[in-house]
Amino acid sequence: MTAQLIDGKAISATIREEIKTEAAEMKAKYNRVPGLATVLVGGRKDSQAYVNMKKKACAQVGITSFAHDLPGDISQEELLKVVKEINENPDVHGILVQLPLPDHIDEEEILGAIDLEKDVDGFHPLNIGRLSMKRRDPLFVPCTPRGCIELLDRTGVEIEGKEAVVLGRSNIVGLPVAMLLLHRNATLTICHSRTKDLPKVVKRADILIAAVGRPEMVKADWVKPGAVVIDVGTNAVDDPTRKRGYRLVGDVAFDEVKEVAGAISPSPGGVGPMTIAMLLRNTMDSAKRDAGME
Ligand code: GUN
Repeated sequence: MTAQLIDGKAISATIREEIKTEAAEMKAKYNRVPGLATVLVGGRKDSQAYVNMKKKACAQVGITSFAHDLPGDISQEELLKVVKEINENPDVHGILVQLPLPDHIDEEEILGAIDLEKDVDGFHPLNIGRLSMKRRDPLFVPCTPRGCIELLDRTGVEIEGKEAVVLGRSNIVGLPVAMLLLHRNATLTICHSRTKDLPKVVKRADILIAAVGRPEMVKADWVKPGAVVIDVGTNAVDDPTRKRGYRLVGDVAFDEVKEVAGAISPSPGGVGPMTIAMLLRNTMDSAKRDAGME
């Protein structure tokens, strides 16, 4: 069997068009423009690339971005001051502090200083707390986890009652996506690098979310025939045949797993573009809330 391809590029392009239309409507009716502030600390190449992609995506849909590129040795106090200033800016409806922050920075304090109404990444402790409880809707849901659920929904995958397995337990993906699946009435298993007999546990999945950060770890014989596989991993592996010396692969051995799975999202080209689309979605929703549009 060859799996249905869950095309994150195509699905995210549809979502971006939806947002572009809403931004144009907001401009026409209210003369308002949604705004996203990006905060980048230090010179990590991957973080720079992610933030650049986010700024470019904003421009394409009619969201203004406000870039704050700060030195890697900025103090906790200075960084807090920047966040507080952005909180006060009425043209900004969303604040994105790119993670990871340098080791000397207390990340929890910085994320907790973001205005709840502008927490479009959904990492404020209160939003995460609400996400982790029943019937306590957070104002914003973190972008990558929300993107995984959106991929399932827009592919017509039923979640309720299914065996969902999340491989990985990070704050950014594994834990929040597990909460979202639970809220949608999946039967949930979270597993990770210390799980005993990982292949057997992964094979329970009707829906598998792979977010462990190990290149091509999930093999064909780990996957139940017909399962839906969402690959969150983006790992650089050496490849001397490429000009840049590496290529990106997911956490799933795509070529072999696609022969077993019922549907599969590739990486790159699956969850990555959805993360950006969900950031735009959260920013648009925040601007609409601010304008009293919903
Ligand atoms: N670093 C890796 N993923 C993310 C994300 O979704 N948001 C932020 N702010 N930082 C990240």
